[in-house]
Amino acid sequence: MKRAMLLILLMLCVCLCGCRGPDAPSSPADEKKRIVVGFSQVGAESDWRAANTLSMQRALCAENGYRLILDDAQQKQEKQITALRNFVNQGVDYIVLAPTTEQGWETVLQEVKAAGIPVIIVDRMIEVSDTSLFTCWIGSDFRREGDTAAAWLDRQFGSRPLSIVHLQGNIGSSAQIGRTEGLNAALESHPAWQVVFREAGDFIQAKGQELVEEVLKKGIAFDVIYAENDNMAYGAAEALKKAGLAPGKDVTIVSFDASSTALHMILEGEISYDVECNPLHGPRVRAIIEQLEKGETPPKYTFVEETAFERSGLKEETIRVRGY
Ligand code: AHR
Repeated sequence: MKRAMLLILLMLCVCLCGCRGPDAPSSPADEKKRIVVGFSQVGAESDWRAANTLSMQRALCAENGYRLILDDAQQKQEKQITALRNFVNQGVDYIVLAPTTEQGWETVLQEVKAAGIPVIIVDRMIEVSDTSLFTCWIGSDFRREGDTAAAWLDRQFGSRPLSIVHLQGNIGSSAQIGRTEGLNAALESHPAWQVVFREAGDFIQAKGQELVEEVLKKGIAFDVIYAENDNMAYGAAEALKKAGLAPGKDVTIVSFDASSTALHMILEGEISYDVECNPLHGPRVRAIIEQLEKGETPPKYTFVEETAFERSGLKEETIRVRGY
């Protein structure tokens, strides 16, 4: 009995030592050995973003040999630019940038390049004339995501008349651009489809709800809500319910991300189709840094493999194992 107790105590100690959080105190010698990464995160606007931040924190933690400096830019590019300059002043080893929008990075990235700090871009893309301003990029093919959603609408409605409410993400972000382009291309090839309302809800749930409430108040008739992320879809569904409408029955909702709440809404019949956008970039970024540490060259561009979900074939178990 005593031996069993001792063993349990020992295992507890090992576990506690091995599972220290990123901010756990450590010796100055430990600190010196760690790779310091400055991560400029877009914000905390969505479930996707929360899962993405957690994935980065878990992968780049003290136990794995990292010190992660996380900066939340509250969806403001100017805050990200300031964060990047602060990272340069702090002399970090790597900078990871999840950019708000595609444009406007040239100047600050030139400063980072002059300081000799490698930059890894994650999630959304940036548009710069000189691609040597970043080491590599890993993220989603947002245009393909838009095309996937539009192809599903085509399978459901074909050439029948369709009135669409389009809730956009924050304008100028790759996620907004690609998903909007996908729908626009489908509108061109489906003359009977029309967008009856289009506005940016910035990937935020409350804004998604407000916009659909506005549409309902104006008395605009519609069949489909094309929400450019899950949080706006949750808000949209809430607005419909408040107005006595049944999401999934009276109005078809198509969304992006495939977060676990959205997948449960698919099982309940409220969201009809959800295109995956995978947020688990932490281990991918860690693998890139490890390659760079070994003097290897990671691929310049890596698109993450993604799928899409609808009610048929979706199981609780699938949602559980996906982990976000
Ligand atoms: O860039 C990825 C997008 O940003 C996700 O679809 C959205 O939920 C997030 O805020």
